[in-house]
Amino acid sequence: MQHFLSINDIDSLPDWVDEARNLKNEPLQSKFLGKDKTIGLLFFNNSLRTRLSTQKAAMNLGLEVIVMNFGNEGWALEYNDGTIMDKGTSEHIKEAAQVISQYCDIIGIRAFASLTDRANDKAEVVLNGFKKYASVPIVNMESSVGHPLQALSDAITLAENSNKTKPKVVLSWAPHPKALPHAVANSFIQMMQLQDSDFVITHPKGYELDPSITKNSQIEFNQRKALENADFVYVKNWSSFSDYGKVLNQDHDWMITKEKLGNAKFMHCLPVRRNVVVEDAVLDSEQSLVIEQANNRTYAAQVVLKMLLENLK
Ligand code: CP
Repeated sequence: MQHFLSINDIDSLPDWVDEARNLKNEPLQSKFLGKDKTIGLLFFNNSLRTRLSTQKAAMNLGLEVIVMNFGNEGWALEYNDGTIMDKGTSEHIKEAAQVISQYCDIIGIRAFASLTDRANDKAEVVLNGFKKYASVPIVNMESSVGHPLQALSDAITLAENSNKTKPKVVLSWAPHPKALPHAVANSFIQMMQLQDSDFVITHPKGYELDPSITKNSQIEFNQRKALENADFVYVKNWSSFSDYGKVLNQDHDWMITKEKLGNAKFMHCLPVRRNVVVEDAVLDSEQSLVIEQANNRTYAAQVVLKMLLENLK
């Protein structure tokens, strides 16, 4: 693996989950692998879990960590070729990526979707700009289209908590006051497509995700029907894909309640808005896996960084 950009870079999900669980049991087993090497984490958007868990994973591997909040501290980057840069952008990705590559052995990038320009977001201009011009491996820490570190963490959490060979897993849309990207849902779907499960996506009409991601996954517009006999309910808001980036409605009937959850385990990537996306009674119950999902972010990142470091040798 040269870069970790999407779920498609996982060659064997069961092997990666096993390796993550192995690292979770003994996090410092490869503590010299990253000695004298540096990872640079570039944040174009806010983060709590991704920032801290990726740093923790890097530290467990002996890496030095440099973090830069590009959004408000870096120069505004230009991504188009041949632009006359006489407006808002100050530095071209060509120089920026080459310069950062001299300071870092691995670069992590967080750059969300704009939710205003679908074609631009689909082209992953920031992630692919760094991939094109950097000379070191790139790690996707949530891009326009995907959040593969989150999905790998979710696969670990599912494996740890499932006692069935083919559990029923439901991905449910939930209301949210702001327009949110599709990345978490996209990568979760792609991850579920790599394993044998009874998988259902449920959302109100109008919130269909990119059909090139959902492919043949089952979609049920009746949330209560979708939730019947669920073992795991993964809840996430996303904005419309067809009416790109729009909040079509905030139907509060779609909030997850304890009554709707039944006996299923509750999953969410966090951060979560209490009593909008999900009620307190769910988050504060033993059915909630959200804290363990966040814990597993460290071991998902550690698997990825370990593999990239092994390739550098
Ligand atoms: N789940 C997730 O990526 O959390 P942060 O946005 O806080 O990093």
